[in-house]
Amino acid sequence: MWEEDKKINITIVGMGYVGIIQAVGLNILGYKTKCFDIDTGKIDNYKQGEIHIYEEGLKEQLNDSLRDGLIEFTSDVNSAYQNADVIFICVNTPENDDGSSNLKYFYQAIEGIKNTIRKDCVLVIKSTVPVQTGEKLQKAFSDFAFKVNVISNPEFLSQGTALKDFLNPQRIVIGGADQESIEKIKQLYTGLDSPFVITSNTNAEMIKYASNSFLALKISFINDIANICERVGANINDVTQGMKLDARIGDRYLKEGLGFGGSCLIKDTMSLAHTATSYGYKPQTLISALETNQKQIYKFLDLLYMSNVDLYGKTIAVLGLAFKKNSDDIRHSIAIKNILKMLELGAKVKVYDPKAMEKFNCDGVNKCTNVKSCLENFDYCFVFTEWDEFIELEEQDFVSLMNNPVVFDGRNCLKNICNSKIIKYYGIGV
Ligand code: UGA
Repeated sequence: MWEEDKKINITIVGMGYVGIIQAVGLNILGYKTKCFDIDTGKIDNYKQGEIHIYEEGLKEQLNDSLRDGLIEFTSDVNSAYQNADVIFICVNTPENDDGSSNLKYFYQAIEGIKNTIRKDCVLVIKSTVPVQTGEKLQKAFSDFAFKVNVISNPEFLSQGTALKDFLNPQRIVIGGADQESIEKIKQLYTGLDSPFVITSNTNAEMIKYASNSFLALKISFINDIANICERVGANINDVTQGMKLDARIGDRYLKEGLGFGGSCLIKDTMSLAHTATSYGYKPQTLISALETNQKQIYKFLDLLYMSNVDLYGKTIAVLGLAFKKNSDDIRHSIAIKNILKMLELGAKVKVYDPKAMEKFNCDGVNKCTNVKSCLENFDYCFVFTEWDEFIELEEQDFVSLMNNPVVFDGRNCLKNICNSKIIKYYGIGV
């Protein structure tokens, strides 16, 4: 609902999943938002209520916002920035080959803003940027024609639950030097029930990197433990159950698998490690988290290789492409990394994912329209994403559809078949 006292010109730049969630999230809180992206195709789609990513509840919310006149899309810089009181920068900051963050899009956005604004404004960095970027940017604006206060407000959304996460944050971090601007940004979020962490730009940036790196570390740690379990005859499910009851350890991010994928944990851990190294410090735990992850990804293919199984001509059904369920994102997809290796080894590959098929194209891979046609007449099955429809598969499905089913469960999620006497089942840490 648009309220008079919420009259503030908010522009959001970068219409990826961070930007669009920020935009519709603020709409839910009663603010109007203007959304800018240089990709005119994307903007045209948004105007029609169409979204290029799958995120639960997002399309519906976008259409509500459009209907209520709360959201506007533009590819015109003047229209985007000229009257803005607050600008949220949500562009992506992908990784360079050396692990550092690529700030090309970030500084492109800053240039656009610099050339266009006509009044004082608060510039809020939501993109994940290397530590000290905010302070450097503040300095760069020190002799600018208008007063620009730089605030760091990192996002902590998880894909798949992003809109829910926006509305139920566990914390909101606001970093900056200007108290009035901090207060202004804090005000925007007062409709949310969340603790605030008010701090400096550099601390806010560090909080984001440290948080994602810690999650990466937890996952690599539990994968290490799972690998030890296999060797000593322990079962990771019972082990984690016993660990999680200790409140000091906690019960999240201890799910074993083939490692973490996606665009954030790998990128941010690499970037923080790169920053540390550039300051002459070797961040051993971060490096280990990344190395463990890299090895974990190919765990099953390594096992086959060690068992002298030649994959040449073997038929492999791949279930799942998305880096996790409830998302169609295939960036740093563990499935795709494995598929490429399978093809290299001469295997014949079929694939199915309920949401991510459109985003995936690879010569030599047969795309299936449903799970059953994917399994049909093939020998091996690899599960890479824990979609419900895979979890629900019964022993009979594998037995009746596949030749001689051998199943590699990269998510330890197939509870119906993990103890099967007929199917050759491989899990992780069991
Ligand atoms: C991650 C963080 O969780 C968010 O807080 C952060 O805002 C976001 O990055 C970001 O920086 O934008 P996301 O990339 O959506 O969110 O994914 P996660 O849910 O953290 O999962 C990352 C990967 O780890 C996935 O491949 C997932 O399957 C895997 N994972 C997760 C495990 O293997 N085990 C677990 O216990 C948890």
